[in-house]
Amino acid sequence: MKIAVMHGPNLRLLGKREPEVYGRDTLDDVNGALGALAVELEVELETYQSNHEGELLDFIEEAADRVDGFLINPGAFTHTSIALRDALTGVDRPFVEVHLSNTAGRERFRRRSFLSDVATGVVFGFGVQSYLLGLRGLVSQIRD
Ligand code: DQA
Repeated sequence: MKIAVMHGPNLRLLGKREPEVYGRDTLDDVNGALGALAVELEVELETYQSNHEGELLDFIEEAADRVDGFLINPGAFTHTSIALRDALTGVDRPFVEVHLSNTAGRERFRRRSFLSDVATGVVFGFGVQSYLLGLRGLVSQIRD
């Protein structure tokens, strides 16, 4: 089984970016923790980060044929992008939406997600653990 892990805009800044909100782990730390879990779960990962909406859409289209599902932290595009929603629903692969922070407890505009209702599941508020829990959930859904 192969899973695409996608990080949206500004997530390359992890570790430096508002550490009181997002923690001190870097994107490499997140990918490293996911890689270790992938070994345990016996799945393969392909990771991708972009700050550009169109590039994320292109990646979804291209990767869909070679992966079984997507684990995505869409960053701010969560709250704005119908195009991202359409890409994810269009490729007919399960996806799990994750967020480091508790988006429900922050600014009002972060409470709306264009993805949550079409996602297989959503995990938010647990820092790096959100990704790990999300990966476990996605893999077990696909295996079922
Ligand atoms: C985020 C939450 C978003 O609202 C924000 O725009 C991000 C990060 C998170 O992981 O908590 O860039 O997706």
